[in-house]
Amino acid sequence: MTAIPVAVLVSGGGTNLQALLEALRRSPVAQVARVIASRPDAGALERAQRAGVSTVVLAHPDDPAEVVTATGDARLVVLAGYMKRIPPAAVARLRWRLINIHPALLPAFGGPGMYGRRVHEAVLASGAMLSGATVHYVDEEYDRGPIIAQWPVPVRRDDTPDRLAARILEVEHRLLPQVVEALVRLGVPERPVRLVASGSAFVVAEQPSVRFGDEG
Ligand code: GRF
Repeated sequence: MTAIPVAVLVSGGGTNLQALLEALRRSPVAQVARVIASRPDAGALERAQRAGVSTVVLAHPDDPAEVVTATGDARLVVLAGYMKRIPPAAVARLRWRLINIHPALLPAFGGPGMYGRRVHEAVLASGAMLSGATVHYVDEEYDRGPIIAQWPVPVRRDDTPDRLAARILEVEHRLLPQVVEALVRLGVPERPVRLVASGSAFVVAEQPSVRFGDEG
């Protein structure tokens, strides 16, 4: 079996990219084939180069054709700390093949302006006892696409935004590679799937069999 090519889009330091590179290095099912940055100074580019993965910096991240072309033959496209909006025409072309990781339990604490430290500040200000990481499909609205998998992280009484961020980031580094491997093993389904943790892996969640009124 040849490994499925995965593209990763980045804007920042790229610790999630690093986790993917390490987890998939010897994977028979998936490999990071290319890394695409929205800016030339993204630290993630260096990580990709060190791993021998080809890189490209987008000249116009808001040009859908350029974004789609950059993803090449990738069957799955992962946003890992990508700070630009994916133009709607590119979202449409990559439908159910484009996923993102967010450092909170969506749909809470997501949406425009909710990134980085701000997410964790908002969680602490709300008094929520639980935060975590979410991997979800990207659609035309920020952080609103169907959820694929989540990993909860309890909020501690003495948490600061930085401490909470650090614990969630550790979880992200485990969640993202597992979801990527699971989706690839499923053949990157053409319809949204929802995964749940089962032992040390993520598996497809059973659909709840709820019937309404006179249906069926
Ligand atoms: C992560 O917290 C991710 O959830 C968010 O951006 C951050 C990226 O961090 N979308 P890194 O560049 O992978 O270190």
